Amino acid sequence: MEFTPEIKKATQPIYQKISKTIPEIEWSTHAPYIYEINKLKKEKNAVILAHNYQTPEIYHGISDFSADSLALAVEAAKTKADIIVMCGVHFMAETAKLMSPNKKVLLPDMRAGCSLSSSITGEDVRKLKKQNPGVPVVSYVNTSADVKAETDVCCTSANAVKIVNSLGVKKVIFLPDDYLAKYVASQTDVEIISWKGTCEVHEKFNDTEINEIRKNNPGIKVIAHPECPPDVINASDFTGSTSGMIKYVKDNQPEKVMMVTECSMSDNVQVDNPNVKFIRPCNLCPHMKRITLPKILDCLKNETNEIIMSDETIEKARKSVERMAEIGR
Ligand code: 13P
Ligand code: SF4
Repeated sequence: MEFTPEIKKATQPIYQKISKTIPEIEWSTHAPYIYEINKLKKEKNAVILAHNYQTPEIYHGISDFSADSLALAVEAAKTKADIIVMCGVHFMAETAKLMSPNKKVLLPDMRAGCSLSSSITGEDVRKLKKQNPGVPVVSYVNTSADVKAETDVCCTSANAVKIVNSLGVKKVIFLPDDYLAKYVASQTDVEIISWKGTCEVHEKFNDTEINEIRKNNPGIKVIAHPECPPDVINASDFTGSTSGMIKYVKDNQPEKVMMVTECSMSDNVQVDNPNVKFIRPCNLCPHMKRITLPKILDCLKNETNEIIMSDETIEKARKSVERMAEIGR
């Protein structure tokens, strides 16, 4: 697509904001797509929801709302748009469809999965329930609709402890992230039965790396996502969801910070916090990175890659998400 003078002028205010993150030569490739997508979404009354791990040209260039997975689910329920384009992974698009079953929900690349979501099936949950009769099931939203259909209440990293405590029981089955389960267990008296799922991005971090960075950067604040292994969480100053981490930086304005999470977070948060220095060892989520501007334009233009679920699955799975939304953050 051509980077015309008209497109350059129209996209200039966006570029001014992110010029420190995206080199000018790269901008000439992104800008025509940003221009077209922003035009088309108005024509079609579409809303673009983006997870915090999306690249800066998506996060700052075209998204109407960018957030953690809890806020994306709540926003999907509220939106007045006819079409929701989910710039995130498959479970996020499915969750949006559960919250807004009458809307058209599009995912720019259907292959954008999640190692946690693919670690467990509805059948696995049924077996666990048989082995633990009467024990309620709390599932991370990073699961398929089939798993959600077998779940009493969903949670995200932003409210996992609150949701587990809200049930008023002695024991819960908590799926599928073993590290998040360990983190929740460290914050509650409720006994946790977990599953062996892990996030392929966060499991790669370790405390040796963090201690080394601390040694070389005295005073640095280390903030970690709860999908990290326990040694990483113990070596950190703060643990929270992606939006929790963003809020920590905004509120505390540390001189130097390391966000122990997916790479795009630091790029995105740097834009709004120019005085904070980001030390950036990070890991890429290959699923999140499948979402690109050309794919977003294509799926919005042709209304392809629609999330389709049977009424029965929607009916069964949405209750657990709605219950989570009622309990909140
Ligand atoms: P958040 O709910 O914290 O945004 O996390 C979602 C996710 O997939 C993290 O890897
Ligand atoms: Fe899934 Fe991990 Fe990617 Fe989040 S970062 S979408 S948990 S694989």
